[in-house]
Amino acid sequence: MFLPIFSRAFSTSIMKQRKVAVLGAAGGIGQPLSLLLKDVPTISQLALYDISPLVPGIAADLSHISTESKVTGHSGESQLGDALKNADVVVIPAGVPRKPGMTRDDLFKVNANIVYNLATACAKNCPEAHLLIISNPVNSTVPIVAEALKKHGVYDWRRVYGVTTLDIVRARRFVYEAKNLKSIAAAKVNVIGGHSGHTIVPLFSQIPNVTFTKEELDKLTHRVQFGGDEVVQAKAGAGSATLSMAYAAREFTLDVLKALGGQSITQTAYVQSNITKAPYFASSLTIGPEGIKQIHPVGKISAYEEKLLDVAIPELLKNIESAHKFVQASL
Ligand code: NAD
Ligand code: LMR
Repeated sequence: MFLPIFSRAFSTSIMKQRKVAVLGAAGGIGQPLSLLLKDVPTISQLALYDISPLVPGIAADLSHISTESKVTGHSGESQLGDALKNADVVVIPAGVPRKPGMTRDDLFKVNANIVYNLATACAKNCPEAHLLIISNPVNSTVPIVAEALKKHGVYDWRRVYGVTTLDIVRARRFVYEAKNLKSIAAAKVNVIGGHSGHTIVPLFSQIPNVTFTKEELDKLTHRVQFGGDEVVQAKAGAGSATLSMAYAAREFTLDVLKALGGQSITQTAYVQSNITKAPYFASSLTIGPEGIKQIHPVGKISAYEEKLLDVAIPELLKNIESAHKFVQASL
């Protein structure tokens, strides 16, 4: 009887409480993500920031949920600093989403500026925070964030992550369904490269005990690479994936919080990298309290996947180059 009470008290006392800021918290991703983070025991403060005047209402609403974290709302640029001060983790889904007929690159013009300004605010207010970038086009917004932090002399590549978890969430679900697997856990699939169309490279050959015909591979690969378009078309002008993205972002955020708490975590994200010709690349990482500890090599892949990578890398290089050109033009 005594032991469980003692363990509970002990575990609560050693769990360091973290501040997590969500930038773009009033949006399609921001709202469900904030809801999904409200009951995380290691979060003591959830700071919700958006330029939208909806933020105070969203914060008031979430603040009534009977979990221990405190919710604060910060609306408009004058309140951005308060949202970011002392933040351990900043999740950034701020920006415009796609409509049918658009590519993620079509968002570059608007979102590049938004992300650059938010990264600059992070450099000034929480230079040591872990930054989780969701805003598209991720292949370019991550290098833009890196350059904004460099400009202020606070860039640490180990703590800037492009969130590509949704590609893995999709790949797991699609394989589970297509192969009629016993559990989602059996669909252990990694997705590397980047986060748009042909830069998304699912590694189905690495799933233990599951084999695919060429036809199955073609279908599944296309579905993972263009899963975002499926949702954009189904929403018919009302935006892109929000709920599945919030689920994916919660998974990634929780893993970063566990890493901050001292656990060694394996996750995949789009980060500064030297394992291919692309200076930013999504692959499996080990993350610890200081951020990325190790970037794992791609590992053994099939000839089919080699070909996908051959297409992905030149496109990634172009996306990264656009980011650098944008930053140079803004200086
Ligand atoms: P949304 O339009 O519903 O919400 C975006 C929010 O950002 C809005 O509330 C808006 O007011 C806010 N915003 C705009 N400018 C801002 C600024 N300067 N500071 C703070 N907030 C600002 O869009 P959404 O559906 O939530 O998507 C957001 C972004 O996430 C899009 O760029 C989308 O393409 C991207 N996305 C990425 C992934 C991924 O896998 N990485 C998945 C889905 C969507
Ligand atoms: C997705 O993969 O769903 C997101 O990147 C949003 C989009 O524009 O497709």
